[in-house]
Amino acid sequence: MAFPLVLSLSIFIIFLCYKLYNRLTAKLPPGPCPWPVIGNLFNITPVRFRCFVEWAQIYGPIFSFYLGSQLNVVVNNAELAKQVLKDNDQNLANRFRTKPLDNVSKNGMDLIWADYGPHYVKVRKLCNLELFTPKRLEALRPIREDEVTAMIHNIYRDSNKHCNVSKTLMLRRYLGSVSFNNITRLTFGKRFMNSEGEVDKQGEELKAIVTNGIKIGGKLNLGEFVPWLRWAFKDEDEALEAQDRRLEKFTRIIMEEHTIARKITGETKQHFVDALLTLQNEYDLSDDTVIGLLWDMITAGMDTIAITVEWAMAELVKNPRVQQKVQEELDGVIGSDRIVNETDISKLSYLQHVVKESLRLHPPTPLMLPHMAGNNSKVGGYNIPKGSIVHVNVWALGRDPKIWKEPLQFWPERFIEEDVDMKGHDYKFLPFGAGRRICPGMNLAINLVTSMLAHLLHHFVWSLPNGVKVEDIDMMESPGTVTYMQTPLHVVPTPRLQLNLYTHVE
Ligand code: HEM
Repeated sequence: MAFPLVLSLSIFIIFLCYKLYNRLTAKLPPGPCPWPVIGNLFNITPVRFRCFVEWAQIYGPIFSFYLGSQLNVVVNNAELAKQVLKDNDQNLANRFRTKPLDNVSKNGMDLIWADYGPHYVKVRKLCNLELFTPKRLEALRPIREDEVTAMIHNIYRDSNKHCNVSKTLMLRRYLGSVSFNNITRLTFGKRFMNSEGEVDKQGEELKAIVTNGIKIGGKLNLGEFVPWLRWAFKDEDEALEAQDRRLEKFTRIIMEEHTIARKITGETKQHFVDALLTLQNEYDLSDDTVIGLLWDMITAGMDTIAITVEWAMAELVKNPRVQQKVQEELDGVIGSDRIVNETDISKLSYLQHVVKESLRLHPPTPLMLPHMAGNNSKVGGYNIPKGSIVHVNVWALGRDPKIWKEPLQFWPERFIEEDVDMKGHDYKFLPFGAGRRICPGMNLAINLVTSMLAHLLHHFVWSLPNGVKVEDIDMMESPGTVTYMQTPLHVVPTPRLQLNLYTHVE
């Protein structure tokens, strides 16, 4: 009985000494002591960026930890973020792909999960020069405005239903529909939802693929980080293959529908399916890349928009002073006898500060997406070996008390005092990342988020249901790569414009 115990204890102590020796001689960033086999897998609490802020207080602004045998490094201040995203931009621009991500991206043949290299440079160029050009975004503006006005109409209709005595709505439902319809129309050129909010069969299939993908991708799978345990996860391989077949079948049907439509009409539409299929030869894109890019847009664009607007609305309900100030600006610029359109946004400077302030406190991707070191690098004086996963804690940057005055206060005026850029130039504020992997959908996202907020606040005064106090709003995040509010926001809209302005403009 004693011998196995002594043996295990000795192995454990040797392991700890080995890791400590490695950390000291390899000059790795400090961090919590890893367990054999699992590393720090079970030390991390579910809301990771909050856990990382606690660890930064113990180990300093740069620290490392292990998932299985995989080394991870986290940076938590602006100076270190700059070293990752500017000084070492190319060295640290690969991606870490789990098995499900490898599967869905065909080993990184898309954009999001591609390692940095000739393929990445090619598809990124395609995104910048063809997909996200100001011209294409402008051409797609009617879709965005159509969806935003449909949202206003639905909110008005549902809050006035006889059965809704309290007039309370779960806002996320409406924001989610705008995001879903916008991103599917932009990407697949189709609206899968009717005016009553009912999703058709093809749309249900799309939603099921997304949900299933999240379920498979979100499972904590030890085999990812402990290579010699992979054999134990065979069932999951089968689930992945089934998901892959389903996704490919769905996408190919839509691609085929648009190819036929182009042949019949001779017209190429602005959405991404037509854009990619007509550019496929010029950019030498495989079918896997076309399919991968289409799904990149769905996964990157769908939740982030709804999340951003929900957090902003929570802050505006908590801060009626700010809400009223936005409404005064809207009344001054637009008046009360017409509705907002996207061209008004440039004149709504206070609203733009509100968007920034909300993204500072609630970035929807608080750890960006994980980067991976393609080469040995140095950050903060420590070595980052090739193959390490590197996280930038954008959530921590936005709340750093050394940088921001009263960081936890929602105070948009701070951006009047100091004009801080949010498009990757100011390393203290990086909701879209920075450097070569910065979010390509950034301008589209800012337009849509600002337009949604402008419409919501121009049309309605927003308050809490009877009996609910400001302190009752749960401002905690749910775990995950993207961070919804843990408890969906329930609010009461009170119309503030004349009735004819609540109709859906198509
Ligand atoms: C408020 C909304 C959004 C936020 C805050 C956001 C933020 C981000 C962040 C932080 C990254 C990772 C950057 C990095 O790893 O260094 C990213 C990547 C990406 N985003 Fe967004 N995003 C938003 C909306 C969108 C939309 C609407 C689209 C497309 C329709 C989009 C497409 C992408 C793509 C394709 C990537 C991968 C870029 C690459 O790996 O090179 N995003 N986004």
